[in-house]
Amino acid sequence: MNPRTLKLRMLRLLPVLGLLAALSGCDYTDVTVPTYQKGYKPVQPISFSHKLHAGDMQMECQYCHFGAAESRNGSIPPVNVCMNCHKTVKTDSPQIKKIAEAYEKGTSIPWVKVHNLPDFVSFNHSRHVGRGVACQTCHGPVQEMPEVYQFSSLAMGWCVNCHRQYSEKDSAQFGQTPPEQFKDLHLKPSTDCAACHH
Ligand code: HEC
Ligand code: HEC
Ligand code: HEC
Ligand code: HEC
Ligand code: HEC
Repeated sequence: MNPRTLKLRMLRLLPVLGLLAALSGCDYTDVTVPTYQKGYKPVQPISFSHKLHAGDMQMECQYCHFGAAESRNGSIPPVNVCMNCHKTVKTDSPQIKKIAEAYEKGTSIPWVKVHNLPDFVSFNHSRHVGRGVACQTCHGPVQEMPEVYQFSSLAMGWCVNCHRQYSEKDSAQFGQTPPEQFKDLHLKPSTDCAACHH
């Protein structure tokens, strides 16, 4: 049986596992194996530097990732965003020529996705960014990265631990206090299996 089929079979057990967890009061974060691809840094077709653009030049993350506050995806910018500057900046660079070529042909750069949640997990940027969770809380100091890499484990325990921290009921149970800036918003991220798996 390949790992994919195994996962799908395990997912069919979700209601059962959830019930067991509820009945035994067990800490289900303990049973997940962390680290997946923490530190993953695939080679990109163009050496685009976040350190240069978002760090040294202090460009806002959402100037390029403009979907993040309103939609599910963090969204990779199309080449026309790059061409706002690179129509005139560094046009003799071989790297920039690749961008200009894609722009003229109406194609896109084949960037390699760094973060990959399994598709049985439902994650939505707007539910986080729209509620004031900073990009760096999950993605680390991207503005200091010449090449962007996966900063957090993206393991289930990572999601659930943060959700618990904000939820008043769970905070009391686990002796944690919600971060100051969220107290007024009464955020209660769910720790129900179905919130993330449906
Ligand atoms: C000038 C445009 C631009 C700016 C500004 C920018 N990014 Fe990006 N970002 C990109 C491009 C292009 C990629 C795809 C190439 C890559 O992964 O390096 C990307 C990739 C990423 C990825 C990896 C996505 C994945 O899983 O494949 C993350 C995370 C990210 N950016 C976060 C940020 C954060 C946080 C900021 C602000 C501190 C920021 N970006 C600012 C253009 C930008
Ligand atoms: C609560 C944690 C969290 C926050 C806050 C967050 N991200 Fe993400 N981001 C993720 C996860 C998890 C993924 C992987 C999603 C997937 O594979 O389905 C991801 C993926 C991405 C991607 C790849 C495209 C995609 O959506 O899969 C980009 C680009 C990105 N994030 C940029 C940003 C930017 C820019 C911000 C701030 C405006 C931000 N993220 C805030 C957790 C977060
Ligand atoms: C706000 C203007 C601006 C935007 C938008 C912008 N860049 Fe840049 N970029 C610059 C500047 C300025 C430099 C540094 C030029 C220099 O070294 O003199 C640069 C440098 C680069 C370099 C290094 C080129 C080399 O050969 O040294 C690459 C690659 C690059 N950018 C890719 C991108 C990509 C891809 C995007 C779109 C996702 C983008 N840029 C968007 C302003 C911008
Ligand atoms: C840094 C803290 C943090 C991390 C890490 C985090 N979340 Fe959240 N999550 C939140 C907050 C805050 C909300 C907003 C709750 C609200 O609107 O009341 C939220 C909301 C959600 C929601 C909307 C349903 C709800 O409960 O409101 C889903 C689904 C979700 N998160 C899934 C995930 C997944 C999947 C991961 C891991 C890949 C993750 N989250 C990681 C803080 C976090
Ligand atoms: C806040 C989001 C969130 C909640 C709540 C959540 N999960 Fe998950 N779950 C994830 C993420 C992200 C993954 C993928 C990463 C991993 O396997 O750790 C995952 C993976 C899994 C897997 C596959 C494990 C593997 O090894 O591939 C199972 C089974 C699972 N969850 C069961 C549950 C059950 C049962 C509950 C309720 C008791 C639950 N999950 C609640 C986010 C969540």
